[in-house]
Amino acid sequence: MKVSIVGAGNVGATVADVLARMDLVREIVLVDIKEGLPQGKALDILESGPIAGFDTRLIGTNEYGPTEGSDICVITAGVPRKPGMSRDDLLDINSRIVQEVTENLVRRSPNTILIVVSNPLDVMTYVAYQTSGLEPHRVFGMAGVLDTARYRTFLAEALQVSVRDIQALLLGGHGDSMVPLPRYTTVAGIPVTELLDQATIERIVERTRYGGGEIVNLLGTSAWYAPGTAVVEMIEAIVKDSNRILPVAAWLTGQYGIRDLFIGVPAKLGRGGIKQILELKLTDEELALLHRSAEHVRELVEAYKRIAAARV
Ligand code: NAI
Ligand code: 2OP
Repeated sequence: MKVSIVGAGNVGATVADVLARMDLVREIVLVDIKEGLPQGKALDILESGPIAGFDTRLIGTNEYGPTEGSDICVITAGVPRKPGMSRDDLLDINSRIVQEVTENLVRRSPNTILIVVSNPLDVMTYVAYQTSGLEPHRVFGMAGVLDTARYRTFLAEALQVSVRDIQALLLGGHGDSMVPLPRYTTVAGIPVTELLDQATIERIVERTRYGGGEIVNLLGTSAWYAPGTAVVEMIEAIVKDSNRILPVAAWLTGQYGIRDLFIGVPAKLGRGGIKQILELKLTDEELALLHRSAEHVRELVEAYKRIAAARV
């Protein structure tokens, strides 16, 4: 198994580090436009191998040649947001980068699976899909695993229980309009609604929605440890063909009444990518929230199309 990661910045390097430590794949190729950066980070991670005990090979490069024949490619290239910026402010610059990166990757790895991380996530996944010509089950975005992890962290804190006992689900776009679903959140099988009062759940849902911004305000740039680890959870499901049900930004073709859009839904991940999109029964209120989130993503996709049309 070979995994290429484009963008050797905070998120990309974390994906490489966490993935290497799992000794799950044979080779990781780290690509970036900054000279020395992917080489230096790949070498540093490689040199942790004898201590951490892994044999994964790491290559850092400014060229795409070494990515040839990748089974999975992760796109983290782009600009992260700064305080005061929304993910949507990155649309123009990051869509150019994601398009260029996708072309370079797919030319050399025509059967790859593409996991998109760059923001605004749902639209960048659309850009990668359109550019790649790959089947939709091979192109998807990482956001829901991260957002759900934040939600689970806050719930575990409030309940004083292990995060491992919290199962949760979250739908919608990666933005403030994301839709956490307390009705589908359980603690060791017990519905969370029986353990926490409505006001506390709402507070946690609200903190989750703005979880990305909370980190940006603290660090002056966006998060990387949790995002990088979230990407690796998706890679692990694919490599082990484990059929994990994870929230994934997937191409919808009418599920939940949404068509021709990438948005976060529960999906079965295994060898080959998305094997199934799960459709849950939602209340009218939950469905309305999901559609509102989808509308926001659709507006951004339209804005991207206008920007792209003006470029030619
Ligand atoms: P970073 O600035 O640390 O790293 C980005 C890297 O991309 C830089 O090293 C830069 O040189 C490289 N890059 C830029 N243009 C490139 C090109 N044309 N080809 C190859 N490499 C190129 O940023 P960070 O923190 O790693 O974030 C990366 C992206 O991921 C941002 O768009 C950020 O908003 C997004 N993000 C998404 C999350 C999600 O949940 N989907 C979570 C966290 C970040
Ligand atoms: C996050 O949620 C900025 O999308 C990034 O941390």
